[in-house]
Amino acid sequence: MEYKTLNNGAEMPMVGLGVYDIPERETQRVVEDAISVGYRSIDTAAMYYNERGVGDAVRACGVPREQLFVTTKICEPCYTRDETMRTVEHSMRELRLDYADLMLLHWPVGRPAVMWRALEELYKQGLFRAIGVSNFYPNSFPAIVESGDVMPVVNQCETSVLYQQREMLKYLRPYGVDLEAWSPLAEGKHGIFKNATLTAIGRQYGKTAAQVALRFLVQQGIIVIPKTTHVERMRENIDLFDFTLSGDDLQAIQRLDTGHNVTGWPSDALTYPV
Ligand SMILES: NC(=O)c1ccc[n+]([C@@H]2O[C@H](COP(=O)([O-])OP(=O)(O)OC[C@H]3O[C@@H](n4cnc5c(N)ncnc54)[C@H](OP(=O)(O)O)[C@@H]3O)[C@@H](O)[C@H]2O)c1
Repeated sequence: MEYKTLNNGAEMPMVGLGVYDIPERETQRVVEDAISVGYRSIDTAAMYYNERGVGDAVRACGVPREQLFVTTKICEPCYTRDETMRTVEHSMRELRLDYADLMLLHWPVGRPAVMWRALEELYKQGLFRAIGVSNFYPNSFPAIVESGDVMPVVNQCETSVLYQQREMLKYLRPYGVDLEAWSPLAEGKHGIFKNATLTAIGRQYGKTAAQVALRFLVQQGIIVIPKTTHVERMRENIDLFDFTLSGDDLQAIQRLDTGHNVTGWPSDALTYPV
């Protein structure tokens, strides 16, 4: 596993397991499987209703807590500091962990600047090792930067070979904020695993289309959190660090970019007032 040093000095694995849509009753098993094959980072959210399973796996897995990186997100629209605190308390009660490694504002709802200042307060108290945002585009991101004194460590946005987010990468660079890719396999849609370009490139290295798609992001320094419930695919999705895509490969993959979101979530169109 390779790690990224975030702008506050925290070390985050370049590949983690996303657990969106995994039923609560299966989550502990899935996360323990992932940890047993080498995952050290898990991405959950209040909205996934499986934080409890993630916390149970973290406590049961036998890997020291400090070697694991747990991300969660608050999604409730909050308008005051106290509402935000209550939402956070709910997540921490579900996780039953002493701290989260990364707490994100899931999207720009409620009053993000107020919510951000509450997260900053808890970060400074040590409840979170790092704080960041998700789905914040240039219409909402500046309000976060201007409202507080802690820079988000990441902006987690839909990013894949089909939606490469080159503008977002450029936008975040001056802030020193890392891009983290959600749905890095485009939810498995649009024939991504049979894509002729990805398959042909993979053949040169003995890799699958999924591995090429993830390597393309990781090689640009983008953190990825592919989701799977299958152990073989978990292994496949972290086995990205023994090959390097060539300049020609990168150019060919760049041509797959559609320039817009492909999962159907209107994530980059959120225009809530901040
Ligand atoms: N911040 C946000 O707003 C936001 C939004 C969406 C997602 N996320 C996060 O991002 C994570 C990943 O995104 P996602 O779950 O939407 O989609 P994804 O990781 O892009 O794709 C997951 C799909 O691909 C399949 N798959 C995974 N690896 C595979 C492989 N090697 N070969 C073939 N099929 C494979 C999975 O099936 P199986 O499970 O059957 O293997 C599943 O159907 C989420 O779990 C969540 O943590 C965040």
